[in-house]
Parts: sequence; C-alpha cells; structure tokens
Amino acid sequence: MDRISESAAAVQPAEIIALLKWYQDAGVDEAIGDDPGALGRPRAAAAPAAPVQMVPPPRPVQLEPRPSPRPQAAAVLPGSDAATGDARRIAAGCRTLEELAAALAAFDGCGLKATATQMVFADGNPEADIMIVGEAPGAEEDRLGKPFVGQSGKLLDRMLAATGLDRSTVYISNIVNWRPPGNRQPNAAEIAISLPFIECHIALMRPKILLCAGGTAAAALLATREGITRIHGRWFDRSFPGLPAPVPTMPIYHPAFILRQPGMKRDVWRDLLVLKHRMIELGCAFKRDA
Ligand code: URA
Repeated sequence: MDRISESAAAVQPAEIIALLKWYQDAGVDEAIGDDPGALGRPRAAAAPAAPVQMVPPPRPVQLEPRPSPRPQAAAVLPGSDAATGDARRIAAGCRTLEELAAALAAFDGCGLKATATQMVFADGNPEADIMIVGEAPGAEEDRLGKPFVGQSGKLLDRMLAATGLDRSTVYISNIVNWRPPGNRQPNAAEIAISLPFIECHIALMRPKILLCAGGTAAAALLATREGITRIHGRWFDRSFPGLPAPVPTMPIYHPAFILRQPGMKRDVWRDLLVLKHRMIELGCAFKRDA
C-alpha cells in the first residue's frame, strides 16, 4: 500500500461523517458524478518530457499605434449596488411574465446563480387570483425547477386544499430565484437584488391577494422588522409600481416552520380562515366544497 492509500484506509467512519456534514453545511449536498476522481488513486506516471526545441528568440515587433479602445462599461459584480441598479432597470423594462423569466435567466447579478442547478421562476396558474411568495428554492426545487415541491411544498399543498385552493387557483414564486447553498437564508444583498424582479413579477401577475410565506418573504415585501409571529394573519396594503391599487397582502407561517413547530397548527388554521373570508369578499376563484 502506498502512503496515500494507507492514510485513506486509516480514516475512521466518524471522521468521514464529520467531513460529509461539513460539506453539507457548506452547500455541497449532492454528488455530481459517480467517479470520485483522483482522490486516493495512485497518480499516473508522468508522461516523458518532450524534447526541448531550441528556437531563436523572436525579433522585436514594431507595434503600429492603435486607435484607443472605446470606453468599456465597468464589470458589474454579482451582489454589488450596481447589480441591484441593473436589476431595477431590467425588471422595469419587462412587460410580460415571459419577458421577466427570460430577463431573469439572462441576469448574472445574483451570485446564487453560480451555485444553483437552475433558476426557479414560478408554478401554478398565472391567471390565478392568489399569489404566494416564499423565501428561496430548496434542494428539490433546485432539482426540479419549480417552487415548493419538497417537504414544505407538500404541506403548502395541504394547507391550500383545506382552503379550497390548489395549483390551478394559485400562482407561486419566491423572493430569490436561485437556491442558496446548503439551504441557508438569502442574505440582504441577495434579497435587495431579487426584490425588483419579484415586485415586477407581482405587478405583472396582478393578484387579488398576496400571501408572504414566512418571515423572510414578509420582511422583504413589507419592509417590516416585525417578526412573523407578530404579523401572521394580518392584512397589509402593499402598493406595486404599475398596479392601480394596493394588493391586500397577508404574511402566513412558512410551511417549513410549521413542520418544525407542529404546535403552530391552530394559528395556521386561523390564518387560513381569515384568508378564506377575504377570498369570498373579493370574489376569488376557489373550490367551494372545501
Ligand atoms: N421554501 C421556500 O421558501 N420556497 C420554496 O420554493 C421551497 C421551500
């Protein structure tokens, strides 16, 4: 056994588990190939060096004076203030949901794009009366390219069903369109860059009711510092550029939070009843027998 294989064999299972946990916390939670690569494998013998060709040194080249290049736009760093400015300008130019999706897909100002598998834009019915905005895609959403399709999505579907709703009568998106590594919360810069796009998304969708799923979505869209435990189930009037009237907006508990705190179910149920009253008042489409 060579030295590398010996030390690999000496690694204890607990160390391997600790290493995997470390990778997972850092956002590396998927194997992207079956081949572990060169790790622990003896290196291939180095190819014999090619014979060195002696060539005479190049003659000095006389450079022609060139016209000075046109001034270049400074590179916009993902996450910078300039990227937020770009996001505002680009979002303001989108006239349809298709244009917005294409503009987002082409946008490189959010650093999360580099680590995500794909963009997660929306799911559901763009003609629906109710729009739900969550925080950010998780692992399943990143894999499938749709919001709320993992564990919390399944609970969201059950909450919707209890209110007479399903994905044909709601439209769902997130504040952030790319998965943060390791499912961490999106940071302030990522939210600031994403906000013009989700505001435009809501304005183009023109919902009768907007639900913010979880504290992050509520804080971002309502610009409030009040926690979700204080503001869930309350109505806010949120104005969006291009919409003639403010949209009645209610924060609800995030399904992932409810999964961790099943004791919240009574509050959740109460919020859904408040929602249903408003749905009836505003003539929203839903299944009456639920
Ligand atoms: N959590 C969210 O906030 N959004 C998703 O799409 C999935 C989980």
